[in-house]
Amino acid sequence: MVRIIGKWICHPGDNRETRLVPVFRRLFTVKNGLKSATLCLSAHGIYEAEINGKSVTVNKFTPGLTSYYFRIQVQEYDVTSLLCEGSNELHVTVGDGWWRWNNNFGYTLALWGQLVLTYTDGSQEVIATDENFEVTTGSIVKTDLQMGETFDARIGLQDWHPAVLCTEHTEGRLIETQGVPVREKEQFRGKPFRDSAGNLVIDFGQNIAGYVKMTLRNTKPGQTVHLKHGEGLDLEGIFSTANCDGGRKEFQEITYICKGGETEEYTPHFAVFGFRYALVEGIEDAEFTAVAVYSDMEQTGDFKCSNPLINKLVENARWSQKGNFLDVAVDCPTRERNAWTGDAMIYCRTAAYFMDVYPFFRKWLADQRIEQYASGKLGITFPSTSSVHNPEELERVQAVNPAMALAGPDGDGNIGEDSVGWGDSAVWIPYQLYLMYGDKAILEDHYDTAKRWLDYSLRCMKEKNPMYADRPWYVNCDGDYIYDTRFHYGEWNEPLPPAPEVIELFAKGGTTADFVTHMAKYGKPEVATAYTKRSCDNIAHMAGILGKTEDAKEYAALSDKIKAAYNQYLIGDDGEIQKGHQAAYIRALALDMADEEKKPLVIAQLKKELEAANYHLNTGFLSTVYLLPTLCDNGLTDEAFRILEQTDRPGWLYPVIAGATTMLERWEGMAEFRDSFNHYSFGAVCQFLFEYVAGIRPKFDKPGFQEFDLRPVMGGTLKWAEASYKTRFGTIKSAWERKGDIFCYTCTVPEGTTACLTLPDGKKEILNGGEFEFSIKKK
Ligand code: BGC
Repeated sequence: MVRIIGKWICHPGDNRETRLVPVFRRLFTVKNGLKSATLCLSAHGIYEAEINGKSVTVNKFTPGLTSYYFRIQVQEYDVTSLLCEGSNELHVTVGDGWWRWNNNFGYTLALWGQLVLTYTDGSQEVIATDENFEVTTGSIVKTDLQMGETFDARIGLQDWHPAVLCTEHTEGRLIETQGVPVREKEQFRGKPFRDSAGNLVIDFGQNIAGYVKMTLRNTKPGQTVHLKHGEGLDLEGIFSTANCDGGRKEFQEITYICKGGETEEYTPHFAVFGFRYALVEGIEDAEFTAVAVYSDMEQTGDFKCSNPLINKLVENARWSQKGNFLDVAVDCPTRERNAWTGDAMIYCRTAAYFMDVYPFFRKWLADQRIEQYASGKLGITFPSTSSVHNPEELERVQAVNPAMALAGPDGDGNIGEDSVGWGDSAVWIPYQLYLMYGDKAILEDHYDTAKRWLDYSLRCMKEKNPMYADRPWYVNCDGDYIYDTRFHYGEWNEPLPPAPEVIELFAKGGTTADFVTHMAKYGKPEVATAYTKRSCDNIAHMAGILGKTEDAKEYAALSDKIKAAYNQYLIGDDGEIQKGHQAAYIRALALDMADEEKKPLVIAQLKKELEAANYHLNTGFLSTVYLLPTLCDNGLTDEAFRILEQTDRPGWLYPVIAGATTMLERWEGMAEFRDSFNHYSFGAVCQFLFEYVAGIRPKFDKPGFQEFDLRPVMGGTLKWAEASYKTRFGTIKSAWERKGDIFCYTCTVPEGTTACLTLPDGKKEILNGGEFEFSIKKK
């Protein structure tokens, strides 16, 4: 990148109270003989730029979200064609974006930039942000990513005055942009209707993250048009955001004040909403189009089968990926919008089947590395929104919630940030990216972070928890390999009633903070021990790949010890682990926690659990991704398909039948009008569809699909299934059809790759580049 000359500048009147939306201007002259012009920009906030009235920035929400105090991205634009000889005008508007969202990073918006003009005679001129820039405010009266935007079309740009140097955290390092550009993608023409309260509501037919472009007709000056964005109609059929607004009063709203005229058009600038519907007030004569906005990753895979409900489920999962992958992967585009590590961990392999997520996750993992606490502990969201970056804000926040901690290496996180399954994302995500893309660099970059997290968990594992003083591992004083302390979300979100003591806690008026303290007191030995063992296995494997033989040995030995303790103390002699919880058995099998003797007993217990639940799943966040593969791997294929095709709740197809167009946070979400309707993590079932039903599976000894398995699994009502997946080597295709008792299978193996095919009759074939067809008689 060019030498840094630009200074951070801001509006002198912008602060935490005024929350201005500054527009910066620079007038400049271009001499004769311009060869090229390059503009570099960044902001505290998010920016949009224009030169001579023409837009420079097609990508949205630049500079993107990074851990701003450590690194902040700069975008570079070739603006040669926008300039003319003589006077020119550069305008840059800066909105709150993530900088000022929840006052997370700072209070004042700022701009950084420099324009390099290169002339044919070899001379160069640099116009950089400094006090020669002017600043004012314009039609965007206020803007907040989540609350929305107020735009007064009557306000023009005037009263320019000199910009001032900004003093707020200007030491943030400027880096070349690394993220995947966020762009406007699919558009949906809205259909107006009246809800049961008579409100004018627009239905866009698809739940998305984005905004609404509106064309307003025959408007009067000062007429106010108001839009509120939501995911659904409540149980009375009335537009509502109650399921996803987290109790916020101002939520996902656009207020547009008209200039007046035959037609006016407006598209929000710096706000993004999760919605399918918009409630409209203040105009009837208008057209509305919803625009989906997300990180523009290449689409890589598709799956279809003979069950249309499963096909819709796949579409819904893909839409939840689109709706949540906006520069970072957030839990939902509505209520929280936090880049939760657990959610990303569960889903990252599925994400890779749908889109090329490698650069997307690489950028995000870099922030995880940067923000890791000195102890090795990790934030549960990155860049952290669970802890506070801005030290000034920290004091204010701690006055209300003393548990809030400082984000980044100087802090040590809050108690929620000990949680296994969330912190283990530092191990699992790079490991999965390596498996899917075959690039060792991701392991090299992230190994230390992953190891430091695991070492932190292993240290916590050695602590004693008096709550378990009567348990054999405590009594025998050999509980070092049972992790029974600290706060863990655990399985989280199992579709089961909460534990009696949790019900009691809330019944007595307990708050979320009390709940966290309660959870921290009990630990979650069954979950925490298992995930720490999984991370030992993963780190041992990574260490082996990276030639760190000592580490490989050490973590493999630790894994064995944890497994032995788990068998002895957490799996009963009859294979019982936690009655009523399928997750307990799925976890034990998927993470290899049961020894050869106990494994059949665990499987038998699991079978009983499935029967008792009448073949409905009751796994939560962490185990649902493992459920179907684990059933198939343990001789329960029929059961797996029965659960997959279950149309009753809890189950994947229940929301599909209820009309969902994305994945829900809870199976009963639409039926009860509660919680987020766009929570991507349960979409991880698609990994099973690609890897088991269609049979396309990666191999760790040849990561990145240079060599892969094809192992299709038939089952349920499915008569046919097909999938394609674009790898670095070309597109793999795998398809099968059942014709009576004949199983027909076709596949495409990209040139230069090898597939190890296992047909349902157990026959194996090694296939090198080409198209293949097989037909076998089913017994
Ligand atoms: C989020 C989840 C997240 C969880 C932590 C929720 O509020 O929406 O997706 O992982 O908290 O358990």
